[in-house]
Parts: sequence; structure tokens; C-alpha cells
Amino acid sequence: MAHTFDPGSASSLEDLDRFRYLSRDELVASLDVQSDSTVADIGSGTGFYTREVAPFVGELYAVDLQDEMHDKFAEHQIPSNVELVLSPAASLPFDTGTIDAVFSTMTFHEVSAAAPAEFDRVLGPGGRLVIADWSRAGAGERGPPVGERTNADGAAKALEAVGFTIESTSERPETFMLEATSS
Ligand SMILES: C[S@@+](CC[C@H](N)C(=O)[O-])C[C@H]1O[C@@H](n2cnc3c(N)ncnc32)[C@H](O)[C@@H]1O
Repeated sequence: MAHTFDPGSASSLEDLDRFRYLSRDELVASLDVQSDSTVADIGSGTGFYTREVAPFVGELYAVDLQDEMHDKFAEHQIPSNVELVLSPAASLPFDTGTIDAVFSTMTFHEVSAAAPAEFDRVLGPGGRLVIADWSRAGAGERGPPVGERTNADGAAKALEAVGFTIESTSERPETFMLEATSS
């Protein structure tokens, strides 16, 4: 069973070498957002990617299950358009259809099976979802054990089951990426 990220390892999330798995430009381009978009980052951790996306959007909610991770985020400068939100992915404190785009980096393997339906709820019709995560097809050179991961096909099936349309999937050496549109 997947386990929740250990806050004691938070410093590893700030390693710039992580951009080899997902770059800022790749993530921002996939999100397809505008400067006034309202966006949610699910499992924001120390804010490594939240801080990269913040300059390109209007409001950005940094959602994490663990207060300790928000404390780690707060050790950095929190961008003025970022709000830290303490919440599980499967029960988000946002009204239906109020979020333009949702993204989640290296966290999808940790969220519960109820999370995809919640992403669909908070996104309006045609809202954008971008998932990047460690892939079961990877070698396990970094990240969680391979057995705790899914892959692009597994994530796509879970999202299609709750009404998402899959726009693209890609398997890379260690990670997968998926772009979807909500119903
Ligand atoms: C591996 S870290 C990734 C952090 C960040 N997305 C990044 O790429 O740097 C996973 C984060 O997701 C959070 N998390 C795990 N399960 C979650 C859930 N069900 N809902 C919200 N956050 C969750 C953990 O507390 C942790 O901060």
C-alpha cells in the first residue's frame, strides 16, 4: 500500500536535480493557463513546483494533507498569489467548478482512489488536469518503490472512469505525464 511522504525527507524535494524529471516550462506549458487562472497544486509539499508555476497564474492553492509540509513550504518565500490549504486530495474545500486547472507532481501514487472524482468536481467542464508522477515502468533510480507506483495507462483508466477525457499520456525513463480535460 502507498505511504504518505515523510516530512523528514522534505529537503530532498528541493534538489534542483529534480528538474531532470519535470521542468518548469514543461509543466507550465502543459497546464495551458492564463495570468488570471485559478489553479490548485495537489500535494504541494515544500512548494518546489508551486513556486515555479505561481508567476504564470492568478490564484494558486497549494494543497497538502500534512501541516508539517506546509511548515516546510513556509521556510521559503510564499508567493503573494499562493494560499496554503490543508486538505486531503479526496475532499477539497473548493466549490464545484471554481478551479481552472489542477496539477499534481510526484504525488498521484499517494492519493486515495476517491481523488480523481474530486478533481473532476472542482474543475469546471473543460478544466485542465496535469499529472506527473513516478512510473511503474521506471527503473526506481529515485522516488518511491516501483511497486507503489502506477503508470500512464493506470492513471488514465482511473481518470476516464470518473469522466475525464485524456488528451495525452507519455512514459519517460522514470516518470509518466498525463494531460486530461474534465467533464
Ligand atoms: C512526494 S511529495 C511531492 C511534493 C511536490 N508535489 C513536489 O513535487 O515537490 C508528496 C506530497 O503530497 C502530500 N500528500 C500525500 N497524500 C496526499 C493527499 N491524499 N492529499 C493531499 N496531499 C497529499 C504529502 O504530504 C507530500 O507533501
